[in-house]
Amino acid sequence: MAEWWRNAVLYEIYVRSFADGNGDGLGDLPGVRARLPYLRDLGVDGIWLTPFYPSPDADHGYDVTDYVDVDPRFGTLEDFDALLADAHDLGLRVLIDIVPNHTSDQHPWFRNALADPSSRDRARYLFRPGRDGGPPNNWTSAFGGSAWELDEASGEYFLHMFAPEQPDLDWHNPDVEESFAEILRFWLDRGVDGFRIDVAQALYKDNTLADTHEPERRTWHADWVTHVNQPDLLPLYARWRRLAGEYEGDRMFVGEIVLLDQDAVAQYVTPERLQLAFNFTLLHSEWDAEAMRATIEATRVALEAVGAPPTWVLENHDVVRLPTRYGGGAEGVRRARAAALLVLALPGTVFVYEGQELGLEEVYVPEELRQDPIFFRTNGTRPGRDGCRVPIPWESDPPGFGFTDGTPWLRIPDDWTEKSVARQTGDRASTLEQYRAALAARRSIPALRSGSFAWLDVAPGVLAFERREGDEAVACVVNVDADPVALPDGELLVASDPEVSGTLPRAAAAWVRLRM
Ligand code: GLC
Repeated sequence: MAEWWRNAVLYEIYVRSFADGNGDGLGDLPGVRARLPYLRDLGVDGIWLTPFYPSPDADHGYDVTDYVDVDPRFGTLEDFDALLADAHDLGLRVLIDIVPNHTSDQHPWFRNALADPSSRDRARYLFRPGRDGGPPNNWTSAFGGSAWELDEASGEYFLHMFAPEQPDLDWHNPDVEESFAEILRFWLDRGVDGFRIDVAQALYKDNTLADTHEPERRTWHADWVTHVNQPDLLPLYARWRRLAGEYEGDRMFVGEIVLLDQDAVAQYVTPERLQLAFNFTLLHSEWDAEAMRATIEATRVALEAVGAPPTWVLENHDVVRLPTRYGGGAEGVRRARAAALLVLALPGTVFVYEGQELGLEEVYVPEELRQDPIFFRTNGTRPGRDGCRVPIPWESDPPGFGFTDGTPWLRIPDDWTEKSVARQTGDRASTLEQYRAALAARRSIPALRSGSFAWLDVAPGVLAFERREGDEAVACVVNVDADPVALPDGELLVASDPEVSGTLPRAAAAWVRLRM
């Protein structure tokens, strides 16, 4: 299917937490491979694998020492090839995560840069002299503290927008671009369907290194400071698109463009640049009909103007799990289930984070077990992201829950027995079966997948729209916080609340095939 990415459902696999094939308590590629049939049956179109490259793990794989290999803890290149082949046999696309903004401080380039300041590799990074006995400017790291670290041997500072173990590359240096073109080709030659580009709005920094005058503190996914989002990125992504376009099979890129302003995002996804960009606006919307409608509309309009499909993201490995963000407990899960039907009926591509289909809540990880550098670099003022990275409960028995025969790297809560894939399978009322039903409907009904879109007039506190193709139309109605509303006349396809028939209670959603 040409431009398959325009209305796909892509499933994010946080590799270390998905499935463990060798009993060491960490997820790995053979583990993923063994669970591919589950994803085919779930009904997604493809997967995005988070980094599995050799890494000292200062930021759980987002600090890479070798971009063209597999960390032995996650398997081998042969395991990767086998996974890819199986996925393709099952009709699943495979995206991998490319981390071009920074390397690990253990990458040979950075080791050379430190060992010999005159080495050519030094210029791959941003080493600069300090100012007034301190760092070169006031830029801060997204993980807390200054974005500059002193290299004592040379007296110069190097830039790191994340942890100090993740030195930023200098994309103004052509050596860097050349190396990444080779890296992209390495994986394209192996057959990947595309790439998720890590912090894709940030590769180039403002060369003047001018101080930023924005507030020091920022939230994880808010629009970032002025020194990123530089114009040089746009031609780079056009070059990458041409590079991928030399390969058969509609290879693609999705950029992690961490900007909430969708007009700013739109410039990255014109027909000659990236195919997709994550849209994080719903990660920040409250459970509020007007706010959600405004955000959906702003996204649709901004991206339609450049001919790009919108994307919808409710969860990922960096944010609090949705049911918890929506208030937690039964009500949080109820809202999250309704939100799933909302996004799965919108035009565009949907990303589902592993465990989202199980209605998993954020886990409280005791401080002594925390692993995320955000927790440590902010002296505990930000809890970090471990709570959304707890491994998947496949079976109902602690401690391994079918995720591992060993000890899971983060403890799986005992009450996840009820949430396990085994327990939810076959239970019509479960979150998992709701996802399966919704994904099956989305696959079999062209109106839902590629039909036209129009808002329907409804009461305040309710969101409703219609998708239409040919003589078929499906309405999606989401009762956010209004009194029960009557559903339109037609065949009820899927509901987020198993009790729903003619009317929709609050915090529930339904898809209805309309009588024409
Ligand atoms: C992205 C990743 C996040 C990582 C950061 C630095 O935002 O999603 O997990 O910590 O980039 O690579």
